[in-house]
Amino acid sequence: MSLEVQGLCVNAGEEPLVRDLSFTVHPGSTTALLGPSGAGKTLTALSLLDLLPEGVHVTGGRVRLDKDARAFGPDLRPWRGKHLGMIFQEPRCALPPSTPVGRVLAAALRRAGLSARDARRRAVWWLERVGIPDGERRYRDPPHRFSGGELQRVLTALALAQGPRYLLADEPTSNLDVTVQGQILGLLKRLQAEDGLGLLLITHDERVVRALADDEVRMVGAASEEGEE
Ligand SMILES: Nc1ncnc2c1ncn2[C@@H]1O[C@H](COP(=O)(O)OP(=O)(O)O)[C@@H](O)[C@H]1O
Ligand SMILES: [Mg+2]
Repeated sequence: MSLEVQGLCVNAGEEPLVRDLSFTVHPGSTTALLGPSGAGKTLTALSLLDLLPEGVHVTGGRVRLDKDARAFGPDLRPWRGKHLGMIFQEPRCALPPSTPVGRVLAAALRRAGLSARDARRRAVWWLERVGIPDGERRYRDPPHRFSGGELQRVLTALALAQGPRYLLADEPTSNLDVTVQGQILGLLKRLQAEDGLGLLLITHDERVVRALADDEVRMVGAASEEGEE
């Protein structure tokens, strides 16, 4: 049982952005993808969801989820949310600005097959589970009513709403002050322990890696690798 990426290559035209990247994420364990800005960390996560931006393509590699081996591309879409949860790098862009966050959560739960009534109840439960008290009231608040730390909690709930076994967290503690960073790392750790989640933790921050990672993969960026050769 694991999520295994083998030989991932991502290009923009002829330009390599990720070159021959391999890593494994085990259930209940954290693999850190560590590297400076521009190293290709976000593109790696987006490749796993088939959400690469226009003009950027996977040119090689395979991914295996437990026994199910697939090529990168549209075949991975059914895994989105269901098997692979994603916390996107920019929390305020990941949520529609004027929709109550509870409703966004409930919509994700309905995609997982819950009735409208159950989805609403479950969304409130999720808000409280990720540490947002008074979920019944906060359900109706749009994103701008939430602090940065609270939004990161909401995005964590959203990523996990459909019950994935693996969570891809892209810079989950960037743009937060140190105290809140610690709280978010604590939340991820708790959810991981409770649900046996495999966590791919994407970060440029060595301290985050030391706090959470069981295993680490360093990315330097395909362009700079080339420069060193
Ligand atoms: N749409 C795009 N077209 C061309 N190059 C891109 C595009 N998106 C990202 N890149 C380039 O890919 C590289 C890796 O980006 P990214 O994965 O976002 O890095 P990281 O998340 O490690 O900071 C960067 O050099 C970036 O400029
Ligand atoms: Mg990034």
